[in-house]
Amino acid sequence: MPFATALTRQLGIKIPVVQGGMQWVGYAELASAVSNAGGLGILTALTQPSPADLRKEIQRCKTMTPHPFGVNLTLLPALVPPDYHGYAQAIIDEGIRIVETAGNSPGPVIRQLKAAGCTVLHKCTTVRHARSAVALGVDFLSIDGFECAGHVGESDVTNFILLSRARQSLTVPFIASGGFADGQGLAAALALGAEGINMGTRFMCTIEAPIHHNVKVAIVEAQETDTELVLRRWRNTSRLFANKVAKEAVKAERESVSGKFEDVAPFVSGKRGREVFVNGDVDHGVWTAGQVIGLIHDIPSCQELVERIEREAEETLDKASSLIVGRGSRPQGKQPPPGEVGKNMNNPGAEMWGIGKTKI
Ligand SMILES: Cc1cc2nc3c(=O)[nH]c(=O)nc-3n(C[C@H](O)[C@H](O)[C@H](O)COP(=O)(O)O)c2cc1C
Repeated sequence: MPFATALTRQLGIKIPVVQGGMQWVGYAELASAVSNAGGLGILTALTQPSPADLRKEIQRCKTMTPHPFGVNLTLLPALVPPDYHGYAQAIIDEGIRIVETAGNSPGPVIRQLKAAGCTVLHKCTTVRHARSAVALGVDFLSIDGFECAGHVGESDVTNFILLSRARQSLTVPFIASGGFADGQGLAAALALGAEGINMGTRFMCTIEAPIHHNVKVAIVEAQETDTELVLRRWRNTSRLFANKVAKEAVKAERESVSGKFEDVAPFVSGKRGREVFVNGDVDHGVWTAGQVIGLIHDIPSCQELVERIEREAEETLDKASSLIVGRGSRPQGKQPPPGEVGKNMNNPGAEMWGIGKTKI
């Protein structure tokens, strides 16, 4: 049964599942397969060498699905930044009206996209950044917990806290990103107040993901502990698959006396990481994966995966609501005497610790 959330209604999709932007993975093969399965597929703009190439990739994707799909535009610090406005204009001119933005100083690009009538989902790892994005007029936040693949931010707050903080303090709808692979996860995200989920690593491990089969097998064989965090020293922390090179990068970062990025740079080459996805040598360079690798045990088609997530979420929510007994006749427990209302009867020491104080 299709879900109806703010996300499905606004994007015109059947299942509230988004495939997040993925560098060197987010091509038309994957994005169209996710959209055909009822979720939202997303092309990754910067996998294309120029805005003109992005136009062609969008056109290719349109021939592969009649359903809505989006484009991710990630703004990262670079000595020579890509032509972000050119990419945004290509997205707009090609009639794409759903854009996932991520990264630093997204203001000018978000304004450009909003002026053209795009629905913008902005991905961020803190409530503070989410609030700044709300002020820029984004339509949805994609809240990326510390579990996630790639740029985890510097706050290290996992989704159990982050999603509830989002629910408590944001004025626009949000989706949950990082650590999701199944319908139980979707049900949990909905329960915490999200309008859907965003997945990266899980979609890498599908038949249609245009990367070497060996990478998918490495994910299936990995456990949740098989990731490494690199570049923390330079406040640009990334979660990587814990292969040989990632472990060497961590060691070089820890042991660098100069504290200069140059000491680690050879280990974290983006070029070598990209080559892994083509040549299938999983130790050839670093590549991104989230802790959710521990929950991934197969390589399904996107259709099978999305259908399974839908079914599991429905079963989980049904099961959870069946746990509520005696609706309409709430059991009358022991009532506190007058004057004691609001005090913690089970833990009288609680007040001493200020438990119950409202967070501002
Ligand atoms: C291989 C890979 C590449 C990624 N590249 C990008 C990127 O270029 N831009 C971006 O915003 N997020 C990127 N991400 C993050 C995903 O969009 C998503 O936020 C993240 O994977 C969610 O965590 P999960 O892997 O636990 O599902 C990447 C993730 C992976 C696995």
